[in-house]
Amino acid sequence: MRLSRYFLPVLKETPAEAQIASHRLMLRAGMIKQASAGIYSWLPMGFKVLKKIEAIVHEEQIRAGHIPMLMPTLQSADLWRESGRYDDYGEEMLRITDRHGRDMLYGPTNEELITDIFRAHVGSYKDLPLTLYHIQWKFRDEIRPRFGVMRGREFYMKDGYNFDIDRDAAIHAYNRHMVSYLRTYERMGLKAIPMRADSGPIGGEDTHEFLVLADTGESEVFYDSAILDLTLGDRQVNYDDRAECAAIVKEWTTPYARTDETHDEAIFAQVPEARRKSSRGIEVGQIFYFGTKYSDPMGAVVTNDKGERLPVHMGSHGIGVSRLVGAIIEASHDENGIIWPEGVTPFHCGIVNLKQGDPEADAACAGLYKALTEKGLDPLYDDREERAGAKFATMDLIGLPWRITVGPRGLKSGVVELTCRRTGTSEEMSPEAAVARVARIYAPHHGAPHWEPMAKSSFHTWL
Ligand SMILES: Nc1ncnc2c1ncn2[C@@H]1O[C@H](COP(=O)(O)OP(=O)(O)OP(=O)(O)O)[C@@H](O)[C@H]1O
Ligand SMILES: [Mg+2]
Repeated sequence: MRLSRYFLPVLKETPAEAQIASHRLMLRAGMIKQASAGIYSWLPMGFKVLKKIEAIVHEEQIRAGHIPMLMPTLQSADLWRESGRYDDYGEEMLRITDRHGRDMLYGPTNEELITDIFRAHVGSYKDLPLTLYHIQWKFRDEIRPRFGVMRGREFYMKDGYNFDIDRDAAIHAYNRHMVSYLRTYERMGLKAIPMRADSGPIGGEDTHEFLVLADTGESEVFYDSAILDLTLGDRQVNYDDRAECAAIVKEWTTPYARTDETHDEAIFAQVPEARRKSSRGIEVGQIFYFGTKYSDPMGAVVTNDKGERLPVHMGSHGIGVSRLVGAIIEASHDENGIIWPEGVTPFHCGIVNLKQGDPEADAACAGLYKALTEKGLDPLYDDREERAGAKFATMDLIGLPWRITVGPRGLKSGVVELTCRRTGTSEEMSPEAAVARVARIYAPHHGAPHWEPMAKSSFHTWL
């Protein structure tokens, strides 16, 4: 993409309404525009990041054996009356009446709808285990929408639902989700800690939230700092292996990590004092095992191998896809702007032409653009007639992890400059060497699982 042809409405002024860095930076970098309270349009660069995050979520869900589908945003109130949640859910539910006077609602979550699909089509243990998921817009009429996309009213969420024959099988589904979520967040360059949590209106016996540590987080969290050293890295996981998934879950849930809702001072006191930490966290996902809470009242039963009819065991599992855009920025920015992790960056590399209109500089930039594109990369070329300072400020603000700077002076000695956004360090090298280096950074290889795409089945190849 050439910046002169793109739509990147960067703001010079810091918007007064934004209280936290991610909201400020998303507005300033032209990623979103508020449509009304807690409802946003995703401008091209914001949309690109949202879709990259979505693609990682899809890839890791599919890798874990979960099946993508799509349910509607508008739901009938009748299903929610069956589960008893129509009245329980309260003011956060946006209720709508259609022209025939039928009660509808904009879905805040989908347990009822999926259970209805399940009971219509599945009746035997032979069809289990089954995990279905979708990524769809949700609406919750939050009393105080704030922090931009972090607490919106309309937001994009992955929600998945497992159906299993018994408790043990459902606990395996829970463990599988935890492992796949850990991989998902790692690929986004995030450290998200699973913390024992409270189940809230979803209900259920077991639940963990995944929290990204950040001063601006809305949750208070308490943890043993030893958990920060854990990583999945490029460990291969067999998602069908119950013992393997359970062992990974054990490893990640053994160090103390709880939100304020479940925090227990007495247990926390047993953690060595130097490792006892408390801070703020952003909830980016949550998993639940809730047994037969929905299948019982809604009659989602299966026949087991003895011919007995039993309510199916279920869990639900959510990832805040749109919230993650903000959470990643909260975790990765500096005073000049965003610093995208390679796994979710909207463009792989920026190209800055210091002297637009200079035939040699223009030709060198065009050559770099072509070479990067041929390597399957997606560069953003700042080809505007602007001062160098303004171009650098824009690149720093939008946070592409790598930048190649081209100027007539360097070209005389055959070099361009490759700059790392995170460290600020620059290195001079030939244009060919710069292209090769950037290509190597994004190439799938062992030891770099964070942005390793799944072979050949990448969801949005056009991204
Ligand atoms: N209003 C919102 N705006 C953006 N993302 C949200 C919002 N509410 C929930 N999410 C995201 O969806 C995920 C799954 O939904 P879940 O039902 O667990 O939310 P929740 O626990 O009610 O969230 P919160 O406690 O932050 O209100 C959350 O972990 C979060 O990342
Ligand atoms: Mg939650």
